[in-house]
Amino acid sequence: MDLAVELSSRTGRTDAIYRALHSALTTGRVPAGERLPSTRDLARDLGVSRASVATAYERLVAEGFLETRTGAGTFATAAASDTAPARRRNPGVLRPRAGWRWQVRPASGDRPAPAHDFRVGIPDATLFPFDTWRRLLAAESRAGGPAAGSYGGPAGLPRFRAAVARYATGSRGVRAGADDVVATTGAQQALDLVARVLLEPGDVVAVEDPGYPEARELFALHGAEVVPVPVDADGLVVDQIPARARLVYTTPSHQFPLGMPLSLARRRALLAHAARHGAAVVEDDYDSEFRRVNRPLEPLQALDRDGRVVYVGTFSKSLLPGLRVGYLVAPPSLRDALLAARQLTDGHGAVHVQGALARLIDDGLLARHVRKASAVYAERHEILLDALAGLPLEVVPSAAGLHVAAYLADGVPVGSQAVVARARRGSVGLESLAAFATGPHRDGLVLGVGAAVTSSIRPGIQTLGRLLEP
Ligand SMILES: Cc1ncc(COP(=O)(O)O)c(C=O)c1O
Repeated sequence: MDLAVELSSRTGRTDAIYRALHSALTTGRVPAGERLPSTRDLARDLGVSRASVATAYERLVAEGFLETRTGAGTFATAAASDTAPARRRNPGVLRPRAGWRWQVRPASGDRPAPAHDFRVGIPDATLFPFDTWRRLLAAESRAGGPAAGSYGGPAGLPRFRAAVARYATGSRGVRAGADDVVATTGAQQALDLVARVLLEPGDVVAVEDPGYPEARELFALHGAEVVPVPVDADGLVVDQIPARARLVYTTPSHQFPLGMPLSLARRRALLAHAARHGAAVVEDDYDSEFRRVNRPLEPLQALDRDGRVVYVGTFSKSLLPGLRVGYLVAPPSLRDALLAARQLTDGHGAVHVQGALARLIDDGLLARHVRKASAVYAERHEILLDALAGLPLEVVPSAAGLHVAAYLADGVPVGSQAVVARARRGSVGLESLAAFATGPHRDGLVLGVGAAVTSSIRPGIQTLGRLLEP
């Protein structure tokens, strides 16, 4: 099989092989029923590791484009050759363009919560000030209020932008005035807007590995060549970022999912790298309001002297994910394009929600809520660490946030994915590090404290402990 694979970077090979195979299969160059080379042969031909080829094959098997027949090898399925030729045979069948490979995740609210709920990234809704919120929303929703009649600007309600600038400055040390803030539909839209205005197809985007899949896949969807960069105890390993990366996506306050902060030396090195190579840095500060240290490290955005950092904040963890409110703070050079992108893609956000949130901030109620929730999460975090202490796990130290990662110690007889599947049967909800990694990584687990009922933590960890026993 003649396969053209663009392998210009050391990392991101699995992705490159996947794309080349996907294209060969869906354009009919590899017809249904054809046997693919063994992973060993293809790896040798391409000069890559066998694991890279095997992972690409596994992905295509999972998507139904390849099938493995025991003892016989790996074959192209009819589903693969259906895709492109089917358009010609049956013009009525519409198919998405190549590249749509993201599998929609089930919504966390669609399934009953596990009794021991260590799912990642879910805040405790019972702490949310619903009565106050209802009152503020009602006030914003009256006839003649800001939501009445007209369209708003793409940057968001001026009151909201001013309140958010004060909040991000006061709580996180971000350097921003009202004009610097653009309201978004959560962090995810902020990433999308940044990708739209900065990336050309084929541009290299460096992401942390393990890292946030929603960011990684979004950049890939915009045509970027996504290059995973490893993370160590100091966070993103800056000297492994490719020089030609146009954009670097990072979670410096609380690395997602491992949890360590990016050290000050690495922060400086990252900014120096960005300045040297003309790259943009996207700083995703998704849950660091919940901190367990007095003086957090300054955000990259505040250390940036060259206008290279786009800071992304969200109220998905500090309030509720369902509000779908976030924001970005961008250098002035990008602002007009970002506003144009927001206006053309979805107009603007819900003004009455932004108005109510501005009041929540201005009246000091958001800060109060965050203080209260931080204390609850810090207690759960402490109980969780105490309960984990007896298990064959190595907890990754973190100073903030809603979850904890822990590596499996040597000698644990099962892999993390098997642990997660078995734990689920015992009504313990948690995640495997494998769900967030693309390359080789230490095996481990990720446990959230946001949704966990405090009294259910110890019994949940006892159940987990039984699954880790030799
Ligand atoms: C790394 C990271 N960024 C951002 C978010 C929040 O995204 P959004 O604001 O779109 O809800 C999450 C939530 O899980 C996250 O884990």
